[in-house]
Amino acid sequence: MRLKDKVAIITGAANGIGFAAAETFAREGASVALADYDAELGKARAGELQDKGFSVEFFQVNVAERESIDQMVTAVKDSFGKIDILVNNAGITRDGMLSKLSSEDFQSVLDVNLTGVFHCTQAVLPAMLEQGKGKIINTSSVSGVYGNIGQTNYAATKAGVVGMTKTWAKELGRKGINVNAVAPGFIYTGMTAKVPEKVIGQMQMMIPLGRLGNPEDIANAYLFLASNESDYVNGTVLHVDGGIMM
Ligand code: NAI
Repeated sequence: MRLKDKVAIITGAANGIGFAAAETFAREGASVALADYDAELGKARAGELQDKGFSVEFFQVNVAERESIDQMVTAVKDSFGKIDILVNNAGITRDGMLSKLSSEDFQSVLDVNLTGVFHCTQAVLPAMLEQGKGKIINTSSVSGVYGNIGQTNYAATKAGVVGMTKTWAKELGRKGINVNAVAPGFIYTGMTAKVPEKVIGQMQMMIPLGRLGNPEDIANAYLFLASNESDYVNGTVLHVDGGIMM
């Protein structure tokens, strides 16, 4: 029970990595707010976990809209009484080569992956400052650290997340709030399901561990950064990518 009596908000928790994290955190004793744009799937997913006896609830949110975030954060506090952990996991891709990438696709990825992380963190901050303790975990990507063809917008956001993580680690450390990021490599989720099999094969060849990651591989990294075991870890970017980039 590494998260006993903790309350966690996980954005993008209806799918993939976020859902795996919700189950992992709940199994470790946390009350988990599954926050996602997709209400139908989110409710179903929360129901699956409730059926297993876990303390979880679904909250609809669009992380690209501050008003929606504020409503979600208020609702979580009303339901669970406090907020100890925020995992900024929601993310989208709108890939395209630089020569063809539209301004709309550039901006929509920024709105969710970068501005969304800023707004969600700012929205939970008063609750964490009040209790003098908190854990914020941001989701970067191997693309943000090393770049990736066709991902100008996505890489910009995931590099930006690293900058915000380190800045907040410096600003909030003395207030008892740890801020860290996880940079996943290639993970089997809906996001990578669109990638052709041939490309998956090429990726596998590049990964020293010889396989793509599973959502649970990232959920376990989130768990470490959310638990008391990481109390002296601050401002780090934990690469969970099978060693694809060193
Ligand atoms: P996914 O596509 O399986 O799930 C993302 C979830 O975010 C979905 O449930 C979706 O409804 C939700 N979402 C999207 N826009 C939203 C919004 N505006 N407001 C609220 N929720 C929203 O994605 P996956 O693969 O689980 O990715 C999770 C995180 O990990 C993302 O930040 C992604 O960029 C990052 N990541 C994923 C990698 C991979 O290979 N799958 C690699 C590196 C990073």
